[in-house]
Amino acid sequence: MCGIVGYVGNKEAFPVLIKGLYRMEYRGYDSAGVAIVKENEINIHKCHGRVSDLEEFCKDKDVTGTCGIAHTRWATHGEPNDQNAHPHFSSDKKIALIHNGIIENHLTLKVALEKNGYIFNSETDTEVLIHLIEDVKKNENLPLAEAVRVALSQVVGTYGIIVVSSDEPDTLIVAKKGSPVIIGFGKNEYYVASDGAALIEYTNKVVYLNDEEIAVLTPGNDLQVKTIKNKKVSHYAEKLQLSLEELEKGGYPHFMLKEIYEQPRSIADSMRGRLNLKKDVVSLGGIVEYEDRLLNARRIVIVACGTSYHAGLVGEHLFEDLLRIPVEVEYASEFRYRNPVIYEDDVVIAISQSGETADTLAAIELSKKKGATVLGICNVVGSSIARATDAGSYTHAGPEIGVASTKAFTAQVTVLALMALCLADKKKKIPKKQYVRMVEALEKIPDQVKQILQSDEKVKEIASYIKDHTNALYLGRNYNYPVALEGALKLKEISYIHAEGYPAAEMKHGPIALIDENMPVIVIAVNSATYEKVVSNIQEVKARKGKIISIVTEGDKDVAALSDYVIEIPKTEELFTPILTSIPLQLLAYHAAVMCGRDVDRPRNLAKSVTVE
Ligand code: AGP
Repeated sequence: MCGIVGYVGNKEAFPVLIKGLYRMEYRGYDSAGVAIVKENEINIHKCHGRVSDLEEFCKDKDVTGTCGIAHTRWATHGEPNDQNAHPHFSSDKKIALIHNGIIENHLTLKVALEKNGYIFNSETDTEVLIHLIEDVKKNENLPLAEAVRVALSQVVGTYGIIVVSSDEPDTLIVAKKGSPVIIGFGKNEYYVASDGAALIEYTNKVVYLNDEEIAVLTPGNDLQVKTIKNKKVSHYAEKLQLSLEELEKGGYPHFMLKEIYEQPRSIADSMRGRLNLKKDVVSLGGIVEYEDRLLNARRIVIVACGTSYHAGLVGEHLFEDLLRIPVEVEYASEFRYRNPVIYEDDVVIAISQSGETADTLAAIELSKKKGATVLGICNVVGSSIARATDAGSYTHAGPEIGVASTKAFTAQVTVLALMALCLADKKKKIPKKQYVRMVEALEKIPDQVKQILQSDEKVKEIASYIKDHTNALYLGRNYNYPVALEGALKLKEISYIHAEGYPAAEMKHGPIALIDENMPVIVIAVNSATYEKVVSNIQEVKARKGKIISIVTEGDKDVAALSDYVIEIPKTEELFTPILTSIPLQLLAYHAAVMCGRDVDRPRNLAKSVTVE
């Protein structure tokens, strides 16, 4: 996810652009840049780092001009560095472009463009767009807007783009598909941004572009909008309702809630380009060269911390179930100091949202020193862990700002599921029919998450019960034991209510002494191989007056009859249930924390990335 800003009018563009980037830095912050049109030239200034680094970088540069675009990046393709920062130039330096989204067919387009003599200066998918537009403009001698339209009709993927040209120095061309674009109206001026946060101080008169629409913004002219199929469209301006503070959170009161609600998209993004339903193929480009190493591994050792460790525990079930390869999951902080036995034919998988966790990094270095192959599953492109591992897969969840990890967890589990499915199919470990059934089930997950989010009001009711307690117990088995741990971590780290996750059967070995009418017990009791066992555990709790909050598969009446509160999730393959069962537990922790008056996005004593031991 990146932030784009554009301005054309009677003011100097640079101050508007820079301020807009600051407003959208939460959307991505690994590199930034501006392009400003001045007397039939375009000046581009861009650099690795945050918006403040760009502002510093531009101090001695010519940034004058009244038409410009700016971008703050969340790297998806290509490391965060100066070359990969946006804007990108056409070969003749007459056109510049910024982009938010993913061009899925960029490799195919790149090969064709290279054959036509285009030279690429970056590793980004975006650069394909600018050369494609340039190629179309030149070969078909089209005005910029038409060249953009023709070029985009060849593109598969998502985009929110703004294009400027020195041939049309007072015009912005804007196009949208799958990434947000808002156009703001000023007095003889236009503003463009990914969200209203960058516009609100100038105007609240806006238009939201729809998918596959292209707009031409020239001060003094009315807004012109066409579809990709060249059909004229009219838009009526509406009033931007939200406050600036809310806008930066996309209208949500906290980043954490926004990120919980982003999960249908972030899970879909973690599968994008990796799960081909038509061909029933799952492929992870980042680890292709290491598939054999994984399939012939003596062991898979997963190292991580916190929520990422819980995702690793789900990975253990996935890999052992589907690949029959032994898996160990280790807290990185324990692993690095216990002088572990590591074999050269081990494959170590490090999981980390931030890619900067010190203990996980240290575990990687130790594993590499002992000769193991080390792969990474990270959310931040170009992070230390991404660079330290031999290869890996990005989760593409977008920036996770809330300290409590939510969308990163479900994206990590999704990538682990994709990895297990891809390797199981290669190893012919599971019958084709079962494999196809699983692939189809995985593809449905984003919509099922959307459905679960509709039970938010019900979860809020449960949170109002939980908030008055000082303890809670989370129980789960098998695939959902890690979710019990994750649910407990969520509650305690943001509401400060103590919570413990436990294997449901382990209750009898001690914790059952805790059960009385004051102990809320959250039980994950979805359809599974151990369902009947979990029902018995619920009865054991009930017999001791424990309050039961159950997560069940929709339609389950038996557990509902035993429970004080019930949340239903849609039916799916057992191995994917952790992605679904974690959603209500995220919401439960969030609402309890809000009701307890906690600083949800910045809980006490915590940091988003633990870069120290
Ligand atoms: C999760 O809610 C916590 N904020 C924390 O446990 C986190 O998962 C842990 O610090 C690991 O971080 P990483 O994924 O960035 O390595």
